[in-house]
Amino acid sequence: KHHLISAADLTHDDALLILDTAEEMARVADRPIKKLPTLRGRTVVNLFFEDSTRTRVSFEAAAKRLSADVLNFSAKGSSVSKGESLKDTALTLEAMGTDAVVIRHHASGAPHRLAHSGWIRGSVVNAGDGTHEHPTQALLDAFTMRRHLAGAPDGGPVWHRGPGDGTGRDLAGRRVTIVGDVLHSRVARSNVLLLSTLGAEVTLVAPPTLLPIGVQSWPCEVSFDLDAVLPASDAVMMLRVQRERMNAAFFPTEREYSRRYGLDATRMAKLPDHAIVMHPGPMNRGMEIAADVADSVRSTVVEQVSNGVSVRMAVLYLLLGGAEPALPGTVPSHH
Ligand code: CP
Repeated sequence: KHHLISAADLTHDDALLILDTAEEMARVADRPIKKLPTLRGRTVVNLFFEDSTRTRVSFEAAAKRLSADVLNFSAKGSSVSKGESLKDTALTLEAMGTDAVVIRHHASGAPHRLAHSGWIRGSVVNAGDGTHEHPTQALLDAFTMRRHLAGAPDGGPVWHRGPGDGTGRDLAGRRVTIVGDVLHSRVARSNVLLLSTLGAEVTLVAPPTLLPIGVQSWPCEVSFDLDAVLPASDAVMMLRVQRERMNAAFFPTEREYSRRYGLDATRMAKLPDHAIVMHPGPMNRGMEIAADVADSVRSTVVEQVSNGVSVRMAVLYLLLGGAEPALPGTVPSHH
C-alpha cells in the first residue's frame, strides 16, 4: 500500500502487520541509541493545517528514529495565510522532493484529495482530517489495547502467542466502549472501523445530539446508559468534547454532561478489575474525565502517547522502506 488515509483501508492482516512491526519498533526505544538507519536519505514532511501536540511531535520523533529527514510545515506562519491553496502548497513541497507527506487538515477529505490529485508522488498519511478519520490514532489505541487485553497463553501479561498461532494477536471478543462527542470525533470513527476489523465489539455511548447521522450503519452498538455498559467493558475510551467544532445549541450544560457521560472515580469503579481507561488527548479534565481518573493506574493516556511513536515508525517504515528489515532478524516472520 502507498498511502494510509482511512482505517477502512486496512485488512485484518494489514492491521496485524502494522501492530507487530510496531512491537519491533518499540524495542528500538529501549536501546541506548534509539535510531535505525532504515529511512536514511528519505524526506518526510509534516504538513499541519490544524493544531496538534501529540501527533505532530510523534510523527517527527518516528521519522527521526528511522533516520529520515523531517520538514515541519505549519499553516500558521506560512503562505497559506496569504491564501495559497492546498494544491500550490503540495506542488511546492513536491518540488523540494518529499517521499511522504503526513497531513492534518480541518477539512474532511483533504488527505484523500492530496493522495489522489497527482500533485505529489510520495505517500500520504492522514494525521487527522476534520471530523472524518485519524487512522494512526486508532492504530496506537489498538496497540495499547492489545498489550493490555489480548490473549495471554498462561494468563500472564503476554501480548503475543507466537508466530503462526494467531490467537491473541487481535482483539477478538474484547469489549470496547467509546464515550462522548462521537459527532465531531475522527478518533471514534477510525477506532470503530479498526476495532471491528480486529474482532472487538464496540459500543458507543453519547448524548443523542452528539451522535452522527448514519451511526446505525457503523459496525458497533449504541447506548445512552454509560453505567449499564461499564461493567462489561474491557476498555473505555473517553472522547474530548470538541467545543471548538460545536454549536452551543447541541450541547447540554457542562455539569449535565459530566454527570451523565463523564468518567469519575465512582463510575470507574463499575469497570472490571482488568479494564483500562483511555483518552486520545488533549483532555478536558473535569469534563469528560475527572483528574484523578486521568492520573489513575488504570489510565493509559501517557502510554498511548509513547505507543504512538512506535506505531508511526511502523507506518512510515512499511510505506517507505518495507523492502528492508527494520531490525535484521527481528521483523515478524509473517511479514
Ligand atoms: N490525539 C491527538 O491527535 O492529539 P493532538 O491533536 O495533540 O495531535
